[in-house]
Amino acid sequence: MIKKVGVIGIGQMGAGIAQVSAQAGYSVIINDISDELLQRGIRGITKLLDKAIEKGKLDQAGKDKILANIKATTELAALSDCDIVIEAATENMAIKKEIFAELDKACKAEAIFATNTSSLPVGDLAASLKRRGQFVGLHFFNPVPVMKLVEVVKTLDTADETFKTAKTFAESIGKTTVSAKDTPGFVVNALLIPYLLDAIRQYENELATREDIDNAMVLGCGHPMGPLTLTDFIGLDTTLYIADIMYDEFKDSHYAAPPLLRRMVNAGYLGKKSGHGFYDYSK
Ligand code: CAA
Repeated sequence: MIKKVGVIGIGQMGAGIAQVSAQAGYSVIINDISDELLQRGIRGITKLLDKAIEKGKLDQAGKDKILANIKATTELAALSDCDIVIEAATENMAIKKEIFAELDKACKAEAIFATNTSSLPVGDLAASLKRRGQFVGLHFFNPVPVMKLVEVVKTLDTADETFKTAKTFAESIGKTTVSAKDTPGFVVNALLIPYLLDAIRQYENELATREDIDNAMVLGCGHPMGPLTLTDFIGLDTTLYIADIMYDEFKDSHYAAPPLLRRMVNAGYLGKKSGHGFYDYSK
């Protein structure tokens, strides 16, 4: 039974996972490489909880309770008694493998490990661990407090019991799950990324303006954001990274990044986070 949740990496995704877990009453311990990053993550969560208070969706006591459920540490060894550890570190195979190797030694034998990777093969991350059967993908969506879905990814080695526990955990924090195989893009990104790449190709080939491409999908298909706005929101670098992994795996032009996307990433146009992507956010 899961009572204590570890979250590695307190960027946007990790902070969201920590928040929704703490809101559901779990005891959460967050880990990152510096106190500064940990404090920034907690400040971000506090800001969202304050907004919920402003909207009358939460009271001060509720906020205090959620924040009291979250402890922070820079030491991976402090996660030794967690029942599940969800890794949301940077999308880099070597870094993630290093984290899991250390956790494998530090954490109790029954603990389940989960990765929030959007694109790296989940089985590859587990391959050198003692507990490769207790390893699963739990892929959340941004913004985590809002998006209802979690993809639960089964590797060749994931034990049925581990899969079930991870799925039940995701449901216990208010998410709906879908089961996915350990293939690039799982379910969502395998559909979403080619769609975003096609929208960028339309823009690159001047078939329509960026505003018209976005409005067409918002007004014509009821999407909350058009594809170019969504690419800015996800990050052009993240979109390119996922596309390259999918292209490497399948060698299918469907997943080939348009030259414009690569040029923009190389020039530092990363989307909302850098102040400029397909749109200008600097103001
Ligand atoms: N964190 C937490 N809550 C947020 C938030 C954030 N970053 N941004 C918005 N919200 C909340 C707001 O507080 C608001 O909450 P209430 O309903 O309680 O008032 C609610 O979301 C709606 O927000 P807004 O009214 O400000 O704005 P909106 O209606 O335009 O919604 C949106 C914003 C939820 C981001 C919406 O535009 C949307 O759903 N966009 C699509 C997002 C999407 O597709 N995400 C998946 C990306 S793919 C991915 O994550 C996976 C990957 O591997 C790449």
